[in-house]
Amino acid sequence: MERPAATGGYDATVMTDLPEHVRRNRAYWDTLAAEYAGPGERNWSSDEPSWGIWGIPDAEVHLLPAELAGRDVIELGCGTAYVSAWLARRGAHPVGIDNSPAQLETATRLQREHGIDFPLLLGNAERVPYPDASFDFAISEYGAALWADPAAWVPEAARLLRPGGRLAFLTNHVLAYLCSPDLEEEPVAERLLRPMFGMGRTEWPDADGAIEFHPSHGDWIRLLTANGFEIEDLVEPQIPEGATTRYPWMPYAWARQWPCEEIWKVRKRA
Ligand SMILES: C[S@@+](CC[C@H](N)C(=O)[O-])C[C@H]1O[C@@H](n2cnc3c(N)ncnc32)[C@H](O)[C@@H]1O
Repeated sequence: MERPAATGGYDATVMTDLPEHVRRNRAYWDTLAAEYAGPGERNWSSDEPSWGIWGIPDAEVHLLPAELAGRDVIELGCGTAYVSAWLARRGAHPVGIDNSPAQLETATRLQREHGIDFPLLLGNAERVPYPDASFDFAISEYGAALWADPAAWVPEAARLLRPGGRLAFLTNHVLAYLCSPDLEEEPVAERLLRPMFGMGRTEWPDADGAIEFHPSHGDWIRLLTANGFEIEDLVEPQIPEGATTRYPWMPYAWARQWPCEEIWKVRKRA
C-alpha cells in the first residue's frame, strides 16, 4: 500500500504562525531537551515498550494495539521518538511530529545510531501536514496529550485517523494534578491542593511560561465523543511493587495508593 505523504503546506518553523502556548512550549522544550537525551537513549536501546514516569511494562497496560505490522502510525509530540522506534520494530510505519527542534535533533541522532528511519516532522500536533484519514493509529505519551490544546489536537487526531482507527494517550492523572503543589521541587501531597472547577490550561510558576493542559475526565469524555471517538478504556494503573522514577515530585507511596497517570484508549467510529 502506498504510504501517505506529508502535504508540506505548513512551515512550522515560522514562529509567528504558532499559537502562543505552542511558541512558549517550544522554548521550554528546547531548554529541557538535553535532560531527555539520556532517557531517550535508554528507551531506544530497549525492545520492550514501557510507559510513563515509572516505566510500566506494556504487558500491564496494553497501550499498543496487538496488530501493528503494516499500520500507519503517528506519534503526536514524539520527543526523542523512542515510541516510534518501538512501533517501527513491530513492523508499523511511524511518523513522529514534535514542536521542539532540540528534541528532534536527539531523535535524528538516535535514528542514525540504531539504523531505523522514519519521517520526523517539526511542527504542532494541533495542525499536522498530512491529509485526512492518513493513519490507523495515533499515540501520545506525555506529548500532545499534556502540552497541546485538547480542543485543537483531539479534532486533529480524529481528522488524521481512518474510520476504525485508534488513538491512545497517556498523561498525568487528574488526582495527581489536584494534589500537586505549585512548585515541582515539592512532592505531590496526600490531599487536594487545587480546585477541580476551572482546571484546564495550567501555567506552573517554575516552568518558565510553559503551558500544560489538564482536562477533567468529564471534559475528555465530552471532547472525545464530540469528535467521533468511542471510548474503549480508561486505564488508571497502579505502579508495580519496587518501581522507580527519576521524577522526585511523585513519591512511590503516593503512586502505590492512587493512580498518578491515566491512559485513554479510544477508537474513531467506523
Ligand atoms: C515529555 S515529552 C514526550 C515525549 C516522550 N514520550 C517522553 O515522555 O519523553 C513532551 C514533548 O511534547 C512536545 N510538544 C509539546 N507541545 C507540542 C505540540 N503542540 N505539538 C507537538 N509536540 C509538542 C515537546 O516538544 C516534547 O518533546
